[in-house]
Amino acid sequence: MKEKILVTGGTGYIGSHTAVELINSGYEVVIVDDLSNSQYEVLDGIEKITGTRPVFAEFDLCDERALTDFFAQHGDIKAIIHFAASKAVGESVQKPLLYYKNNILSLILLLEAMQRLGIANIVFSSSCTVYGQPDQLPVTEATPFKPAESPYGNTKQVGEEILRDNCRAVPATQAISLRYFNPVGAHASALIGELPQGVPGNLVPFITQTAAGIREQLLVFGKDYDTPDGSAMRDYIHVVDLAKAHVIAVQRLLSGQQKSNYEFFNLGTGKGLTVLEIIEVFERVNNLKLNYKIVDRRPGDIEKIYADTALANQELHWRTELGVEEMMRSAWKWQQHILKNA
Ligand code: UD1
Repeated sequence: MKEKILVTGGTGYIGSHTAVELINSGYEVVIVDDLSNSQYEVLDGIEKITGTRPVFAEFDLCDERALTDFFAQHGDIKAIIHFAASKAVGESVQKPLLYYKNNILSLILLLEAMQRLGIANIVFSSSCTVYGQPDQLPVTEATPFKPAESPYGNTKQVGEEILRDNCRAVPATQAISLRYFNPVGAHASALIGELPQGVPGNLVPFITQTAAGIREQLLVFGKDYDTPDGSAMRDYIHVVDLAKAHVIAVQRLLSGQQKSNYEFFNLGTGKGLTVLEIIEVFERVNNLKLNYKIVDRRPGDIEKIYADTALANQELHWRTELGVEEMMRSAWKWQQHILKNA
């Protein structure tokens, strides 16, 4: 019997790539998503890649009745990977209550349901945003959180604290928070990838849309940061490497390998790249010229961050395999797939 894993937000960007890796690793995947920021057709992409269509339930995790009904049918779930959340930083400043409700209430309702049903294991989507601008780089898991810059960032900090406190109070619970650095790229098949709605706030979708002629010009925010070329530095990680780390986290929970019942890991490559370096790689590997202009800093942006990956490497026996060239190649291939199928 295949072990059943619930992937909330499984039609989203990271969720869909993780569903693929779970299926390829022999798990049965059940997806819950309200499709508020993703599309039903993503299930077709997952099926085309893996040959298996995940079970899908469309509802909002804040709908307690729907959640109860769902678990009445799927009480045999062995672990949950909880991606479902709102994630636009700017929007979270405009609509804080929406963010606290979507991101915090859904987590609490899930944890309550887990307790009721005796489901022990959860993997939580966290973010390097919990660190703010760290005083020292690379950033280790021991680095204290800085006050959150946005309600979105706060929901990740509070989410982690809820998990930690719940793990203390309920020793049978096992949780792992994964702190993502900057996930980019797409599955090599170009059958799934990131589907931003409206004008992308993130760098790589803006780059690919500019190259595709959907946006006229990329604005590079900031020229006077303390980095080799003055543009901001991030730790970009291929979404497929990130997805594979989730499978490992699930295996760690199911096989009882945790050192304590609440753990947290950085997921990055350990290497910082600047915005201008990213553009250079994108242009080179795809043989394109990008129309861009360097402008003032974007308010709220940090200067630089990259991960210390030692803990994830040692404890999860996980290493990133795909480099920045593959990230930029696959991102462009995916953009072309979107254009063709529009
Ligand atoms: C952003 C969020 C972060 C979230 C992450 C998810 C902010 C302040 N932070 O991180 O909380 O977890 O996305 O992926 O929004 N850039 C440009 N031009 C653009 C877009 C981006 O120069 O049009 C630059 C940014 O200034 C930054 C880098 O590219 O230096 C990466 O930006 P982005 O993809 O938005 O990620 P983060 O800001 O790191």
